[in-house]
Amino acid sequence: MNSLLSVCDVKDDVLDIIKLANDFKNGKIEKEPLKDQKLAMIFQKSSTRTRVSFEVGMYELGGTALFLSTNDIQLGRGEPIKDTAKVLSRFVDAIMIRANKHEDVVEFAKEADIPVINGLTDIEHPCQAFADMLTIYEHKGDFNRKLTFIGDGNNVSNSLLLICACLGMDFAIACPKGYEPKEDIVRKGKEIAKKTGSEIIITSDLKIALKDADAVYTDVWVSMGDEKEAEKRNNDFIKYQVNSNLMKLAKDDAIFMHCLPAIRGKEVTSDVIDGEQSVIYDEAENRLHAQKAILYYYLKK
Ligand code: CP
Ligand code: NVA
Repeated sequence: MNSLLSVCDVKDDVLDIIKLANDFKNGKIEKEPLKDQKLAMIFQKSSTRTRVSFEVGMYELGGTALFLSTNDIQLGRGEPIKDTAKVLSRFVDAIMIRANKHEDVVEFAKEADIPVINGLTDIEHPCQAFADMLTIYEHKGDFNRKLTFIGDGNNVSNSLLLICACLGMDFAIACPKGYEPKEDIVRKGKEIAKKTGSEIIITSDLKIALKDADAVYTDVWVSMGDEKEAEKRNNDFIKYQVNSNLMKLAKDDAIFMHCLPAIRGKEVTSDVIDGEQSVIYDEAENRLHAQKAILYYYLKK
């Protein structure tokens, strides 16, 4: 069964999905295309945007969504992933999962008879990346651009690296040594980039990363699941705070992006995230349009 576990799973269709999201946003898709279809949404971690965008999205597509926190379903008491996936496959048309471990979502997808969508794991956040690319398209008009991520080589930056590679966009990440994206992600991204012509830069040097950047992106230093390392991380990332001096190293008209939730005063200062260059609420809104495009792509018969 086709599933969206990684941006790589749809690497040849990335642009089509973004166009579809743009069409949804502009009211160009027929009404209720997924009438009566059902989405199960399993959450092992907290969420505002992912939960609400999938739930509202499914409603607007004519279907319905079920919110299943692992505290409430038997999975949280140790029911095997296999049995949960097989049983849900008899009730609903697709499963969206936000999970602690990426490998659990991979197992879900293997066992399910319906599409499984990754709503964030420790390794990737593909749904966020689609919303982000729609946002860049809206603000910049094309993908002949450079996105610079400042901070942790985490789930969000991994998916951004891959989606930029798919679109032929240049991607740079500036991070402290030891916080680089996973080797496997970099290897896959560079393989795709060879064909599309994008440049991928992994560096600890802020100036190199930010040179000619059209979009400056950051995310929390302490992701969900990293709480035990909070003190060390908050020290290690201090020089990588996105503030007005750092923004000056990018292009004058660069936009500022953040997947949210953000911690003002840590990874970004208030003047930047609440300033004129910031597009954070467009990005958040675009989760809805991107989620509808992804659901349509997988479920439209
Ligand atoms: N950006 C994002 O995924 O937000 P939530 O954690 O609120 O879903
Ligand atoms: N990197 C963050 C993203 C939250 C949307 C986390 O995993 O907590």
